[in-house]
Amino acid sequence: MAQFPQRVFSGVQPTGNLHLGNYLGAIHKFVSLQDTHDCIFCVVDLHAITVFQDPAVLKANIREVTAAFLACGIDPVRHIVFNQSQVPEHSELAWIFNCVARIGWLSRMTQFKEKAGKDKENASVGLYAYPTLMAADILIYRATHVPVGEDQKQHLELARDVAQKFNKDFSASIASLGHNEAFFPMPEPLIQGPATRVMSLRDGSKKMSKSDPSDNSRINLTDTADIIAQKIRRAKTDPEPLPSEVECLGSRLEADNLVSIYAALRGFSKQDVLNEFGGANFSQFKNALVEVAEAKLGPIGAEMKRIQSNPAYIDDILRKGADRARVIAGANMAAIKDIIGFIR
Ligand code: TRP
Repeated sequence: MAQFPQRVFSGVQPTGNLHLGNYLGAIHKFVSLQDTHDCIFCVVDLHAITVFQDPAVLKANIREVTAAFLACGIDPVRHIVFNQSQVPEHSELAWIFNCVARIGWLSRMTQFKEKAGKDKENASVGLYAYPTLMAADILIYRATHVPVGEDQKQHLELARDVAQKFNKDFSASIASLGHNEAFFPMPEPLIQGPATRVMSLRDGSKKMSKSDPSDNSRINLTDTADIIAQKIRRAKTDPEPLPSEVECLGSRLEADNLVSIYAALRGFSKQDVLNEFGGANFSQFKNALVEVAEAKLGPIGAEMKRIQSNPAYIDDILRKGADRARVIAGANMAAIKDIIGFIR
């Protein structure tokens, strides 16, 4: 395999109600990768419109995700922060990948099956082709590492399949143009830590979700300290005290979820948490959880609101980020066109 310089790419959809799941599963991890990698963080507005979005709400949501990136500590000067629709190469490469990926591959995607539900005939073509756009997002920058939640693993595998088939289909052209062996890297998912899947506070078998009808099921990044405390105190638990060993969390889904959240917020492992709280009852543990959650999330919410009060500032960051992203994407797109045999 050819060696590629390490580069991180990830995206967050601007579909409203950013919550603790988005923070711990994604944005929080982006922040720590900044010290070790060149990173590109994208607000994936083209993915958002695979289901209808009200235009005014979409615009506000794009700014909200950007504000969350900044409030959580992503540095738009050392790294690149932008929105997807400002860099046309994403759509351009997605079309090419639509011609590389096979219908059978896309038909196996569990997220499409879940999102399209029973009425597949009525889902947008974009929702079906969503994973080829995601592959394009990553590969237009030849990114090597992709921090994502557990639920995106299958899409990452598809991106690798696309990269591999492109490299193989065009191997002669790639070699004759002087790129060694492979043009695209095989992007690897980075899925680590105790909270790769944050569950609902009301039902430990369901993912924390922006679309859950109960607002008590999630902690929104813009919730005030009082609301955060209230939601944690009302979170579902079971009657037993906390165990001392991770294995004993077993089928206690709600207990496992709260322990995972506490661990992720403090940068501990779940076992660390049980070493401290094994034998404690939930009211004790919840007091500690309220304290860390307020301390971590309170300032983020406040900072998001402050940043969001200045949309022109946000738009300027996105525009500058897009300008920088386009330089990389444009150069790679030119090479891709040469490989395919297009005239430019
Ligand atoms: N599909 C991802 C999600 O819903 C968002 C996304 C789009 C993404 N393009 C990406 C994530 C590229 C990582 C890399 O969470």
